Amino acid sequence: EKGGYEHFMAKEIMEQPEAIRKTISPRIQDGRVVLDDLALTARDVAEMDKLCVIACGSSYHVGMNAKYILEKLLRKPVEVTLASEFRYCDPIVTEHTLALVISQSGETIDTLAAMREAKRLGAKVLSIVNVVGSTIARESDGVLYTWAGPEIAVATTKAYSTQLAVIYLIGLYCAQLLGSIPQDEYDGILSELQAIPDKMEEILENRSDIQYFASIYFNHPSMFFIGRNLDYAVGLEGSLKLKEISYIHSEAYAAGELKHGTISLIEPGTLVVALAGYGALFEKTMSNVVEVKSRGADVLGLTTHSRAAEMAKTADHVISVPDTHPLLLPSLEVVPMQLLAYYVALQRGCDIDKPRNLAKSVTVE
Ligand code: M6R
Repeated sequence: EKGGYEHFMAKEIMEQPEAIRKTISPRIQDGRVVLDDLALTARDVAEMDKLCVIACGSSYHVGMNAKYILEKLLRKPVEVTLASEFRYCDPIVTEHTLALVISQSGETIDTLAAMREAKRLGAKVLSIVNVVGSTIARESDGVLYTWAGPEIAVATTKAYSTQLAVIYLIGLYCAQLLGSIPQDEYDGILSELQAIPDKMEEILENRSDIQYFASIYFNHPSMFFIGRNLDYAVGLEGSLKLKEISYIHSEAYAAGELKHGTISLIEPGTLVVALAGYGALFEKTMSNVVEVKSRGADVLGLTTHSRAAEMAKTADHVISVPDTHPLLLPSLEVVPMQLLAYYVALQRGCDIDKPRNLAKSVTVE
């Protein structure tokens, strides 16, 4: 049942390219994104005052990526709120607000309750769900399923990747309706999206490199993930994966925020995973890498192939992923982060598929 892998998590990590293909290919026809299952008219999109993303855990981290991606593509405000907070923050929602609800299981009680509240306040609800016929899917105005197949490991991997793929589809679809990006940019992003599964396969083929880094770092008591913009959003997910299955204390920070407090925690032997895939901010993040190096941290860098040599001048080790359109980087960068958490937990002998204190679907508030 684990397809020859030691854990469901490993199997599910390896299934990601195929899961993304299944999620995007039926929705791309003649060079365009076609979302027949999306209950949104051109007028709805034009009148939309903002998008409210509502989710928990890793699905919330997809939402963090969505903020950067959708604001860039649509030039509409995107607010991302933890579902467990949404009902208690007196959210500003109108009948022109689109609530974008993200949930693998479709049963997370916090997400469901927040979604009902958004609906009550007049928002239209679009959900991104993996489990067909789940409560969130049934109660939404429109649902875009992620075709990841059953996800067994508590730590989500292929659901995250396919949720992210759906965010690109929504972004491109709405951008076309709005005319908010030029056609050549639309074409470029769409073709890079279609290339993601192959590029992901390349990363997966080289997974032994990451296993090697895990064997060096698995005993570090504390790890920090730093990055800016989308790299920061991916860092949040990398940090959660690590905590969840390896029980190593870790935090993710927007790289520029370190000097406002956290840098006091950096001492010789602290591991800092520095994400610097986003080219426009590469130099800025590298300046933070220099700061942590000078305080004795070990730095494991993550960037694209084209910047790997540059990053290796400062970082102790560098993992690189294929180059792609900047907005699509999270789809690739998340894979080494999942693998790192997996191999670290493996070295530590943890119960990877069923980490302590956690359930796959959280149906209590
Ligand atoms: O099923 P959902 O996407 O609504 O679940 C949300 C979170 O409970 C979930 O993403 C959790 O954080 C994962 N175990 C993380 O790997």
